[in-house]
Amino acid sequence: MTQKIALVTGAASGIGLAAAELLLKDGIAVVMADRSPEVLAIAKDLGARMGGKATGMVVELSREENVLKLARDVLAQQGRVDILVNNAGVHPKNGGNKFYLEEITSEQWATVLAINLTAPFLLSRELIPQMKARKWGRVINISSNSARTVVPPTSAAYVTSKHGIIGLTHMSAYECASHGVTVNAIAPGPVRTGLTGQSSAANQELITKLVPMGRYGEPMELAVVIQFLASDASSFITGAVLDVNGGSVII
Ligand SMILES: NC(=O)c1ccc[n+]([C@@H]2O[C@H](COP(=O)([O-])OP(=O)(O)OC[C@H]3O[C@@H](n4cnc5c(N)ncnc54)[C@H](O)[C@@H]3O)[C@@H](O)[C@H]2O)c1
Repeated sequence: MTQKIALVTGAASGIGLAAAELLLKDGIAVVMADRSPEVLAIAKDLGARMGGKATGMVVELSREENVLKLARDVLAQQGRVDILVNNAGVHPKNGGNKFYLEEITSEQWATVLAINLTAPFLLSRELIPQMKARKWGRVINISSNSARTVVPPTSAAYVTSKHGIIGLTHMSAYECASHGVTVNAIAPGPVRTGLTGQSSAANQELITKLVPMGRYGEPMELAVVIQFLASDASSFITGAVLDVNGGSVII
């Protein structure tokens, strides 16, 4: 059987790194893309530790030409992408607090949307056709709990991008449904990563109180869901948004 190839963005830390580990464990070759140059050493170490094929790629996803080059380079080097995990994301903070609407500059708005929403769209557009051609593919988009309910310490640019990811998921899932390609989103509640570490202690306390389980999740608790959605076991799930949040949204 041909080895599956996964592309995970934002794989140098947090949820993306944990997902890369579990995909490698399943025998999948993983391309780990991140703007942090550390991703090269991280991928090398992880590949050696897991006895699998992990390749680091340094890419700044806020620029369209970089995203398109990433898609081209991965296809040229690996020959295919079977699993796309659109995970890289940013949530700019204002000294531990959010940027309120009137504080968001047009530049910040554009950057957040470019990284969190446009890059996933571009990678989907570039990589889904070759999945459809082989009649098998998995796209996993990372949204957020803040697109499922109101989370007061989140900023409008971030929340908008995470709502957008759900729209992208819905329509690409519909269009791919008869081609063997599933597209799903995960909406994580608060997870202990570098992204949430930028919040002030007061905001972290407030966020914890909004979680019925009374705690942040760990990256691995999200990675197992990515692993499942990337597998054959999830074959009848598409267009779904999976809430993984310690009970924060119970509907
Ligand atoms: N941690 C949470 O509580 C939480 C909650 C909901 C959603 N999410 C989402 O989960 C995803 C992963 O976040 P995380 O919590 O693991 O954070 P993280 O900061 O640990 O990881 C994000 C990774 O993305 C990379 N990245 C950021 N901007 C990039 C860019 N322009 N180009 C390339 N790489 C870039 C970073 O270098 C980092 O390695 C994000 O989309 C985030 O919005 C996280």
